[in-house]
Parts: sequence; structure tokens; C-alpha cells
Amino acid sequence: MTDRYAVFGHPIHHSKSPFIHSAFAQQTGQDLTYTAIDAPAETFTTAVRAFFAEGGKGANVTVPHKEAALALADDATPRAQEAGAANTLLFTADGAIYADNTDGVGLIRDLTNRWGLSLEGKRILLLGAGGAAKGILAPLIAARPRAITVANRTAARAEALTTAFAPLAVRFDVTLTTLPWAQLVHREATPPFDLVLNATSASLAGSTPPLSPALWAPDAIAYDLMYGASPTPFLIAAQQQGATRAIDGLGMLVEQAAESFWLWRGVRPETEPVYQALRTQLAASTAC
Ligand code: ATR
Repeated sequence: MTDRYAVFGHPIHHSKSPFIHSAFAQQTGQDLTYTAIDAPAETFTTAVRAFFAEGGKGANVTVPHKEAALALADDATPRAQEAGAANTLLFTADGAIYADNTDGVGLIRDLTNRWGLSLEGKRILLLGAGGAAKGILAPLIAARPRAITVANRTAARAEALTTAFAPLAVRFDVTLTTLPWAQLVHREATPPFDLVLNATSASLAGSTPPLSPALWAPDAIAYDLMYGASPTPFLIAAQQQGATRAIDGLGMLVEQAAESFWLWRGVRPETEPVYQALRTQLAASTAC
């Protein structure tokens, strides 16, 4: 019998996950279907439980339900617990719901495997302290950069995030600090960064966090967790200021999906053809 998977979110109609997982299934010869289910907050938990009761094998969960997904699970991986959120659910043979979070590993795989970057010994600036930033911080620390500096429009959230992850940073010998938002535009505020990650949702409002040419080390990379048909405002500003490479989050999207697929099916799909197909689709959508 064909196994059923789905992604839950609200809104969900723009989700690329059905395309990605169908492509993975075709490529690896796995017999499965993958659909998108729109579930507002009030019905999310009921909708997930109904899906599993009707034979669903696993699910992805996206905005705004990632915290709720962790809360409804019977058990969770350490990386989901650290992130305080889950993007992947697995219905186990004994009827339990198991939660994982593959966002962070997706980012690290995109940076290291697709773009050939090493984070070890690097200085990283993380912009944002919401769910997206929290979801990637543990794997970033585990990649052993020299320092991670967190800046957020609301300073208290950046402080809370660095406090929560301080023990992990100590364990991996990573300097984890905050930088006031207003200081981002000041020349002498900080040593320059090798990698600046935009984990804010500013792009959704068509804006970018404040940036300064002084932020960028030689060969610095700008990475936006968001992606779109054209470069985000953050990536455009970064390139204008001297970042040598500007990368959007499309590769992370495909890599987190591949990790979910592996968890469900025990098979690792090749991500590059699917990434290229999505890039072509996005380029065609700008041409319209
Ligand atoms: P997500 O799950 O996408 O991280 P979130 O938890 O609501 O969503 O967090 C959104 C993040 O983007 C926060 O860091 C937010 O900053 P605040 O904590 O100050 O709200 C940041 N953000 C959203 N819009 C922004 C904007 N226009 N400029 C700068 N930061 C913005």
C-alpha cells in the first residue's frame, strides 16, 4: 500500500515540500504520496492526530506550528528539544508520535556540502532571535566556529537566546555573545564577520536588518534563510557592501527535506537535481 505523508502549515499553498518529496520518492523508487494540509492553529493538533489515525506515516510541520508539533509529540530528538520546535513528525509502529528538527542540519549541509564552506574557526553574525534563529543555533555551535554574535531588533530576545545556549557554547569552546541592534551600523563595534546569517523575517516586509560595510571580513558570505524569485533585500545590501557571496535559503529547504525523508524512509535522496529544478522554477516565475 502507498504510504502517506503531508506537510501541515498555515498558509500552506505556496509550499514546495510536495514537489521536493515527490521528486525524492521518484528518484529513490519509494512508494509514497505527499500532500499539503492547511491547518490553522485551532485545528492543528486534531488534524495531525487524524492524519496519523487514518494511516499517515509521517509529516512535516511549518510556520506557525513548529512549537505545537514538538508539544504534541510523545518523544523527540535532542536537536528538536534544543530548538524547542519540530519540523518533522514520525508515526512509529507502536502508535507514538516522534518529533525531530532537521532545519539546522539542513543549513549546515547546504553551507558545507553545496557551497563547500567550513565553519570551523569562523566568526558568525546571527541576525534574529526568533524561532528560525533558535532552530539553527545548536548545529551552528556544534560546527565549532570561533565566535557567534547574535543581534536582534528586540535585545531581550537575543539575550535570552544566548543565555539558553551558553552551556552548549562552553562545551564546544565557542564565544557566544550579543550585539545591540543599533551597533550593527557602527564601524568599530565589532571585528568583521566571515558569515552573516539573516534569520529575521524582515524580508517578508521587503526590508533588511541594518548593515554596515565594516561588518564584512574579506571573503565574507551573506546567507538569508529566506528565499524568493529574486535576491532578498538583505542579500542585495550585503553584496553592495562587500560580501563576496550571497546565498539564499533554497538549498537549506531541500537539505532539511532530505533529512526528513531519510528519517522516514531510511534512504538518502540526491538533493542537487531537486535543488536545480526548484531554482529553474523560481527563475521562470520571475520571467512571468
Ligand atoms: P521566525 O520563526 O521566522 O523566526 P519569529 O519567531 O516571529 O519568526 O521571529 C521573527 C524574527 O525576525 C525576530 O528576530 C524578529 O525580531 P523581534 O524579536 O525584534 O520581533 C525579526 N524581525 C521581524 N521583522 C523584522 C524587521 N522588519 N526588521 C528586523 N527584524 C525583524
